[in-house]
Amino acid sequence: MKFSAALLTAVLTAVTVVSAVPFQRRAGAGAVRKMAGTTRLDAAGAVYLLSNDPNENQILVATINADGSLNLDSAVDAGGRGSHGKADGPDALFSQGSIKASKKGKVLAAVNPGSDTVSLFSINAKNPTKLTALGDPVSTEGEFPISVAFNADGTRFCVLNGGRVNGVNCYSVDKKLGPLAINNSLRLLTDKLKTDTPPAGPAGTASHILFSEDGKQLIVSVKGTPPNAGFFAVWDVAADGSLSADFKQVAPAKGGLLPFGMSVIPGKNAILATDAGIGFDVLDLADDSKSSANAIDGQVATCWSAFSSKTGNFYVTDIGTSAVTEVHVDDNLKGTIVGQTLLTPGSATIDLDIGTVNGRDFAYVLAANATSVDVIALDSPGLAERFSTLDISGPTSAAGISINPNNLQGMTVFTV
Ligand SMILES: *[C@@H]1O[C@H](CO)[C@@H](O)[C@H](O)[C@H]1NC(C)=O
Ligand SMILES: *[C@@H]1O[C@H](CO)[C@@H](O)[C@H](O)[C@H]1NC(C)=O
Repeated sequence: MKFSAALLTAVLTAVTVVSAVPFQRRAGAGAVRKMAGTTRLDAAGAVYLLSNDPNENQILVATINADGSLNLDSAVDAGGRGSHGKADGPDALFSQGSIKASKKGKVLAAVNPGSDTVSLFSINAKNPTKLTALGDPVSTEGEFPISVAFNADGTRFCVLNGGRVNGVNCYSVDKKLGPLAINNSLRLLTDKLKTDTPPAGPAGTASHILFSEDGKQLIVSVKGTPPNAGFFAVWDVAADGSLSADFKQVAPAKGGLLPFGMSVIPGKNAILATDAGIGFDVLDLADDSKSSANAIDGQVATCWSAFSSKTGNFYVTDIGTSAVTEVHVDDNLKGTIVGQTLLTPGSATIDLDIGTVNGRDFAYVLAANATSVDVIALDSPGLAERFSTLDISGPTSAAGISINPNNLQGMTVFTV
């Protein structure tokens, strides 16, 4: 075979091109992509949510500015893949709590539903946009993880699996090694919850995981399949973080159907849970007779909840109406509706969280279908006002990050 000059040139060019391609480092948990021109050093905190992209799950990080508004800062590789349950549209995981920050522990945990793993990060308290991966993502020992919960001091967390192999599993936080499995904390729900990976939903799926206020109980909410009501599964948590072998199955009060996002009712050993079938449930963990199911008129699917320590009220979102409903729960655990704030119709308002910024409370609501975050100022009971909106799609597409409104999920706040 004779080499022509052209062939030689082509071969040399190819060699040059190959050697010019940089070593393709596999991105791992913690790899950062900055958004253009967004670095701010005066952050009062940060909000975090998941792209939940099936190819590469990213944590989208926005700074909370001194006035409570948001600025998209960066995308941090969550270290795994996202997933989507078998249903169209936003709320891919049928869950609350897919990403969760602990203020006390200065840590952040995020699920990778398509990889069956959970990732742990430390949060730089001086600059909360800076996340550092703690160890590698670890197996959840189940399928389709959808929700995480920290204990009060952020030294332990538990994850909820919502797929075919469903249930809970807990870890202690090691600031060097990352999540360390806690003995006797892997507990299945599969006898009571038959589903697939990914599950068909939202009916008949797991929703959210939460510690009771005293940390002595771990609670999971499960949606029913109409006409059958869902339930709460409650494990006892021992001092070493291990869980009781069996859970107590607690039904919502009569009328409750699809228990979803939960919030602790402070000082009451009780939980407020949204209920996509009616509005919200109040669950007394000590005395069933004080539990109740409460209607929100005109609701379509009330699914996410958060509590404001400034107003003393709960705020719940509805994916169907884009209304945020403010709920007061009195000393006798009686719930009443205080008011409603209408966000953009059709924007599919899903996960929310509340943060205190310079003495003022703000609700951060993921409007998934509008690829934006709505900020609501909560100045006093009954006074909730739209304050500002963060656009997610512009800055992410400019930075080459793939966002799908149907995949976006989760919302958690860290304030300095
Ligand atoms: C967990 O259990 C194993 C086996 O029983 C034991 O060797 C180990 O010390 C336990 N770990 C902790 C942290 O208790
Ligand atoms: C999302 O937006 C599309 C197009 O505007 C609309 O057809 C759809 O109903 C919206 N979905 C939700 C859940 O609001």
